[in-house]
Amino acid sequence: MIKKLPENVIRIISSGQIASSPTAVLKELIENSLDAKAKKIKIVIKNATNFSVSDDGTGIPFKELPLTVERFTTSKIENLNDISKLKTYGFRGEALYAIASMSKLTIKSRYEKEKIGGQLKVCENTIIEYKPIPFSQGTKVLVEDLFFNTPVRRKSISKREKSNMLSSIKTLALANPDVTFQINEKILPATSIHERIKQITGLSHMCEIKEDKFHIFFKKREEDERKKINLIFVNRRPVEIPEIKRLMEELNIGSYILFLNLPPEEIDVNVTPLKDRVLIKNGEILNKIKTKLKPEVTLPSVMFVKEERAEYKTEKIKILGTDGTIIIGYDSEYYYFFDQHLIHERVNYEELIKRLKAGKIPTLKLSQILKFPYSKELENKLKSAGIEFFTEGKEITVTAIPEILTVNDIIEIVKGKTPESIASIACKKAIKSGYFPVDTSQVEELFEKYLQCEEREVCPHGRPIYTKIKRKKILKNLGR
Ligand SMILES: Nc1ncnc2c1ncn2[C@@H]1O[C@H](COP(=O)(O)OP(=O)(O)O)[C@@H](O)[C@H]1O
Ligand SMILES: [Mg+2]
Repeated sequence: MIKKLPENVIRIISSGQIASSPTAVLKELIENSLDAKAKKIKIVIKNATNFSVSDDGTGIPFKELPLTVERFTTSKIENLNDISKLKTYGFRGEALYAIASMSKLTIKSRYEKEKIGGQLKVCENTIIEYKPIPFSQGTKVLVEDLFFNTPVRRKSISKREKSNMLSSIKTLALANPDVTFQINEKILPATSIHERIKQITGLSHMCEIKEDKFHIFFKKREEDERKKINLIFVNRRPVEIPEIKRLMEELNIGSYILFLNLPPEEIDVNVTPLKDRVLIKNGEILNKIKTKLKPEVTLPSVMFVKEERAEYKTEKIKILGTDGTIIIGYDSEYYYFFDQHLIHERVNYEELIKRLKAGKIPTLKLSQILKFPYSKELENKLKSAGIEFFTEGKEITVTAIPEILTVNDIIEIVKGKTPESIASIACKKAIKSGYFPVDTSQVEELFEKYLQCEEREVCPHGRPIYTKIKRKKILKNLGR
């Protein structure tokens, strides 16, 4: 006999695909924060079924809070036409509804234009609390006891779920380097795409090609299978595109992170509820990528990774001299223009860090008490910054700090940032622009030290240290 399913069963079945795993749920929440233009997103994962996502985005108007957990309610599109112009991750208005059907969900939010916030608690799609509360601008979504009413799904949570959750966060963080991500205690500060790739993959060198509609970072070979990174983003959305995967294999590219920036009308994201398949309507882009990546094409190799910067290793840059501001050098392929002050700043900075690590900078006893919750990570960080401390129970007490640091720097270090005072000391000690070294040997000595630096692309404040021009281009301009 054909019977209509009870409401609660319909809800769970139809939510299946979106909230299929804790990782999928977490991804939806982070995407909502990104859609709300958050610049800081904090993710706290207690375990696979209890976690929260907080952001400093636009927030949700108090009146609209209950709508968020209704099915097919969204603030992101109004009609079919809007789907083709879509710039947000979400648009189906199903995620919070689905999550609310299988967990105890709490949403706290304050809308940017309102003075008071609101709290909504929902369980199995029934609102159990809805009240105004004081809250800072933004939104916090807390998921508790996920899948408590779907034992099978609960049992099928993968042993690797937590690591899947982390890699899903990292993928979204890669596509949004301008957003600060905090994952439990760990902070990834907002930065450039190059730094973000470094923060996440640990790779400091990859080739890079930037074109109008795509930006790719890649490594030709990757001997270690486990280190392979194959990621494709279309307009910041992580997606799978089998044609591109095949193309990369064909071209023997081991690791790649490909960002495609296509006008929304050239793609179709409405393929599956998971939105992880994208149809590219115009195949031209694939040909373009292919031509640019063909092995016979010489690859621009200046990157933030050492191997590919073979120009530094195998062929040394010859220094022509300095005008007091710019050091000019060349090799067979490029002319280089280095900012003399920034080179010096980088050299000073790395020397200071080395001395700090080696405990070679005198310390000052602290008169105030500075305590932090104990973690192994923090212990290591403090050690490597030459900070003296003792551990008691679950607390670390800082007793003395190197004289070049301030108490504020310690707080920054705890947050995972580089102390500003080291950068500014490095800067103050660096030769100012306009200073003309007496002989080129001094410039060469400075340049040698710079080549030993771990980071050569940017100064401690993040400014690029050099720019370069292809020799071929100069010759062409000269009509040769
Ligand atoms: N972190 C957030 N900040 C601001 N608004 C949010 C946030 N999360 C959800 N919302 C609001 O709730 C609505 C429903 O969210 P969701 O169910 O994920 O659907 P969708 O993202 O497809 O619109 C969103 O359209 C948005 O208006
Ligand atoms: Mg959403």
